[in-house]
Amino acid sequence: MSSDIDRPPITPQQYEILHGGGAEAAEIARQRLSRRRFLRRSMLAVWGISAASAVAGALYMLYPTLGGQFGSEQTVGKLADFPAAKPEQMELNVKGIFYIPAARTYLVHLDKDTEYLQKGEKLKNLFNLQNIVPASDGSHWIALYQRCVHLGCTVPFRNDCVSFKCPCHGSHYNVDGEFLDGPAPRSLDRFALSLKGEEIVVNTGVINANVQHPDEGTRIIAKPNKDCSA
Ligand code: FES
Repeated sequence: MSSDIDRPPITPQQYEILHGGGAEAAEIARQRLSRRRFLRRSMLAVWGISAASAVAGALYMLYPTLGGQFGSEQTVGKLADFPAAKPEQMELNVKGIFYIPAARTYLVHLDKDTEYLQKGEKLKNLFNLQNIVPASDGSHWIALYQRCVHLGCTVPFRNDCVSFKCPCHGSHYNVDGEFLDGPAPRSLDRFALSLKGEEIVVNTGVINANVQHPDEGTRIIAKPNKDCSA
């Protein structure tokens, strides 16, 4: 079925020729057909470009550039910005443990004189399995995800307990994220961390959610000796 767009107006002269038939009529009809095809193709092209633009816009909204945002690699600071501490001496944002809101991360810097419960190759393997990264000065770094592995509340670090205690249902984790007690099914999750020159890079798109409840043979850091019941 033809539309008004398919049928451009013709001049009175053309009307006469068309109704008279012959070669001239055929030529005019051919030109009208060509124009109709041209208009139809133009409309399809415009529609196609509009649809492609709409899809591209939707994809951009769904998958924004993640560079430097949560879900991607983030440079969180320089080594010197985060002084190390032994576990029992850690103080939030002062020494040993630092909250990085943009990365939703607690950055833990364990002093080189930290006493570990495991030794030698076994300790090295546990460090590898738990994303605990050694530095050239003998200290170690961890990037703990702030999210409680029980039901997802944000877990605060409590200076009074020298540990993490979830306010929702009481899950309790040591300074290195190791499970202590409560309903959490495993230790805190941690991100991939790397030291690049003087900078600390946390990849918040790569998460290790496989650190299970420690036992005597796998616990790395002694339980804090402070009461944390409140
Ligand atoms: S969400 Fe943290 S203990 Fe339940």
